[in-house]
Amino acid sequence: MNACIPVPLAESAHAALPSWSFTLNGQAVAVHCAADQRLLTLLREHFMLVGAKPGCEVGRCGACMVWLDGRPANSCLLMAWQLEGRQVTTIEGLSDAPQSAPVVDALAQCGGVQCGYCSAGMCMGLAYLYQQPGMDAPTASALMCGHLCRCTGYGGIQRAIDSLFPASTSAA
Ligand code: FES
Ligand code: FES
Repeated sequence: MNACIPVPLAESAHAALPSWSFTLNGQAVAVHCAADQRLLTLLREHFMLVGAKPGCEVGRCGACMVWLDGRPANSCLLMAWQLEGRQVTTIEGLSDAPQSAPVVDALAQCGGVQCGYCSAGMCMGLAYLYQQPGMDAPTASALMCGHLCRCTGYGGIQRAIDSLFPASTSAA
């Protein structure tokens, strides 16, 4: 299910701004805005997709994570000019991905969701790792270091990681 609902822009207000075309959750979209407009702002204020959260807004916490061409990226660091011709997937678009349900279930069942502010970004990161062949729990845990939980409830998140990935894939 895609929740992308582009909001029409007033021609008079935006005619002088450049247009950027990209794919958002499987839908072709175009937006008129300054080249340095951040994707996080576009998602939340133009496309009304508020799953990606503004946390640190300097690329340190992962709360705003999306996928860009299928790879994790912090939307607070992506500018409009970088989106041209690219594919953006948000947590709203991830619901169609087969790897999303196990990740959501693991976080929910292991107590990995507390206030939930970081949860969408955590899901984006974990769902990406879940589709990587040979991923194990220690590696996944290390690669999730860019996701900060302000509740400091890392125990539940770690339990979710442990339930999703084998303990180790290294040869004995
Ligand atoms: S808000 Fe983007 S990384 Fe923290
Ligand atoms: S669940 Fe509260 S910030 Fe992570």
